[in-house]
Amino acid sequence: MMLRLARVYALSGALCLSASAWAAPGDPAQGRAKAQALACVACHGEAGQSSQAGVPHLAAQPPLSIFYQLLQFRDQRRRGGGMEAIAANLSEQDMRDLAAYFSQLPAPKGQPFADAALVRQGEQLAQAQFCSSCHGNQLQGQKHVPRLAGQRADYFLTQLQHLHSGERADMDGTMASAAASLSPADMAALSAYAQTLN
Ligand code: HEC
Ligand code: HEC
Repeated sequence: MMLRLARVYALSGALCLSASAWAAPGDPAQGRAKAQALACVACHGEAGQSSQAGVPHLAAQPPLSIFYQLLQFRDQRRRGGGMEAIAANLSEQDMRDLAAYFSQLPAPKGQPFADAALVRQGEQLAQAQFCSSCHGNQLQGQKHVPRLAGQRADYFLTQLQHLHSGERADMDGTMASAAASLSPADMAALSAYAQTLN
């Protein structure tokens, strides 16, 4: 109970911070033009759906989550995939516009995963670990918390491992504590499950 309360407190703290940085909403039409001009789509896909291993889908992610991740890359608090260098050249208005654009694209469809038993195990774990309490009922993401539904399993697994080990620091420590007790097998099962969700 104490742990659950502590998590809720930390989450609401982050929301206050994000509300001030977020300021005005972005313009999706500007975001679309910027996504082309800055070649985001070369890696993340024309419709924000990536076909490259290790590159996440951005379509239908909550705008605040995209914005926050770009800020973290710019500030070198998150590193990976060369995104630090890309985000270093973006203004906060660019980030808001890009976030507005990618967030309103249709969500990626869930993809089957070969090992059905692993998928079921992931589903049970996700319920037992309350992943949906932050990531949303359908793991669709909300506020600054990323969408997990339909995300590529390869990307998901690497990120979860990094959040577990501390190689990727999260903005308020809530995800690090959610990942703390997960075994390597748990993380593989969760990544398989998430990829199948619409
Ligand atoms: C050269 C390929 C490449 C380009 C170009 C690129 N990205 Fe990325 N992006 C990546 C990779 C790879 C990752 C995963 C980083 C990691 O492993 O931590 C990523 C991660 C992200 C994330 C984090 C998503 C999440 O779920 O946490 C966001 C947001 C993002 N990119 C937005 C953008 C935007 C906006 C642009 C254009 C300004 C862009 N990217 C250009 C390869 C690229
Ligand atoms: C207390 C709230 C909370 C809970 C519970 C939680 N998460 Fe998260 N999760 C977050 C936040 C916030 C982030 C963004 C972290 C950051 O970069 O600052 C995140 C990020 C992630 C990411 C990286 C996604 C991406 O696109 O980069 C994965 C994967 C993930 N969570 C999986 C899970 C799984 C699986 C569970 C259940 C075992 C879970 N989370 C439970 C809050 C939570």
